[in-house]
Amino acid sequence: MCGIVGYIGKEEAAPILLDGLSKLEYRGYDSAGMAVLNDDEIFMTKSKGKLEVLNQLTHGGETLKGHLGIGHTRWATHGEPSDLNSHPHLNANGTIAVVHNGIIENYAKLKEKLIKKGYEFKSETDTEVIAQMLDYYYNGDPLCTIATVMQRIEGSYALGVIFKDTPDVLYAVRKDSPLIVGHTDGGSIIASDVPAVLKYTRDVIFIENEEIVTLKDNEIKIFNIDREELDKPVKHIDWDADAAEKGGYEFFMLKEINEQPKAIKDTFSPRIKDGKIVIEELLMSEEEIRNIKRICFVACGSAYHTAVTSKYIFEGLARIPVDVEVASEFRYRDPIIEENTLVIVVSQSGETADTLAALRLSKEKGAKTLGIVNVVGSSIAREADMVMYTWAGPEISVATTKAYSAQLIAEYLLAMHFANVKGNLSDECLEEMIEDLKALPEQVELLVNNRKRVQRFANRYLAAKDVFFIGRNVDYAISMEGSLKLKEISYIHSEAYAAGELKHGTISLIEEGTLVVAVATQEEVYGKTKSNIVEVKTRGAVVMSVAVEGNSDIEDVSDYVIYIPETNKYFMNSLAVIPLQLFGYYISLGKGYDVDKPRNLAKSVTVE
Ligand code: F6R
Repeated sequence: MCGIVGYIGKEEAAPILLDGLSKLEYRGYDSAGMAVLNDDEIFMTKSKGKLEVLNQLTHGGETLKGHLGIGHTRWATHGEPSDLNSHPHLNANGTIAVVHNGIIENYAKLKEKLIKKGYEFKSETDTEVIAQMLDYYYNGDPLCTIATVMQRIEGSYALGVIFKDTPDVLYAVRKDSPLIVGHTDGGSIIASDVPAVLKYTRDVIFIENEEIVTLKDNEIKIFNIDREELDKPVKHIDWDADAAEKGGYEFFMLKEINEQPKAIKDTFSPRIKDGKIVIEELLMSEEEIRNIKRICFVACGSAYHTAVTSKYIFEGLARIPVDVEVASEFRYRDPIIEENTLVIVVSQSGETADTLAALRLSKEKGAKTLGIVNVVGSSIAREADMVMYTWAGPEISVATTKAYSAQLIAEYLLAMHFANVKGNLSDECLEEMIEDLKALPEQVELLVNNRKRVQRFANRYLAAKDVFFIGRNVDYAISMEGSLKLKEISYIHSEAYAAGELKHGTISLIEEGTLVVAVATQEEVYGKTKSNIVEVKTRGAVVMSVAVEGNSDIEDVSDYVIYIPETNKYFMNSLAVIPLQLFGYYISLGKGYDVDKPRNLAKSVTVE
């Protein structure tokens, strides 16, 4: 996710910007840049690549002299990582410079209007639109101009802005992207997150939505969008620097679990327009969609589990036959790819060697390919015929959580869109599903906030040796993910089973005290799953069930129940997975492991 830093004061700005940006590296980025005002002119250096490149280009900030500056690390969203797309962005005559964290959703429309008015664009970014809009509406009063532009842009943004005309003021703004400000010794600073400012101040103000800040070396003023001045509390930060990078969380995994409502929302909201699903990246006509004969999902690990969920959804909703295969198997057999087969590869990193090889093989065999990818500009994103990004932001913890949740959302959107285009899902039903989709972020947040309940149960089972996860239908797919989450970070042996399959062998492993996690969210098979729970309970198992609110009869057959709110049956995975992620997390935490870096595992598996 992009990071921004800005400084005005008695010190040279550039070294402070570089230092602050280095503290935001954990957010992930692919390019970096700075703009500094000096002698009535804005000077800028920006480049694709690591911060070290910017450091070298500017000799540690030496070549950019000046006391007012803005800096940025970019995590590409609109436009590939490149020097041109890096921030800052300037207006045509270089008198306004902007850095931006977030996504401007209506940028295409705004850009079109500006082009009609004669504006030219150098980059593919949504951010350049802001620089040009500021230019267009500029009336000599930057504060007023910023407020005007804010009323016209939609989406999320934290901005740092410099106007050549006001060399003693740094401007900043926030809507749905984080921004903090504070006084340093002899200056003022802005940043996306606390670690960037800790060296300079521990007293910060958290800027809220639609607030505008003007910073001078000895004065910070905060205004609402109507330009009325606000009185805001100063918060003292006492985290150590390491904890600060994790936003106060002990591990990135918990931070990322908490970020799931945002990852879900950011993935669906740009693709829902006027009650319809619009997937601009899907370069397929309605006729081509109707002609799809088969979809073949290929992925590894958790990404594969999202695809298992999708098989139920695509077949149930869109009535398109779906195969799901792990990439390491797919690539070494001779898969049959018939005409009108769509191959969908799913990958957080976009670099997983087996998934990439499967993609290449599919293309060789003539399939149309779609990548569902989180890391912008990664190999799979570049090589697939079409790429649909999941906007989960950088994921640091090895065990995936928010990228998994975002992948599910991308797959739901595709299935709903295909079903609607094929006439299997009416516009009314689609609208109802969209409403359910929109409710997911809040529902996920509720479940995350309820984490202490999962922790209490997890703490009782730190010594478990074997754990079985069971479920039917979509619940089986959730069980697979729950089982993987547990084993990979807690080193407890666990397996997932289709609940009906237990009696074909595995039930012989159940003995007094064996822990079984039963997922029972699917109404059609609820009674069947309950019977399977009874089967394991009579053999001595301890059962934790995950069920939908209202189905309290599950308590008769379970030792512990976690309830999830009601949603569309196909979206249950997005809710049921939360307690399972938390269960794995708290077991690992309770056992004292390094949750974020489990033994033998790497975040990006670029080798076979
Ligand atoms: C498990 C996990 C892995 C990945 C798998 C695929 O928590 O993170 O199973 O899902 O290695 O990685 P990507 O999605 O990067 O292709």
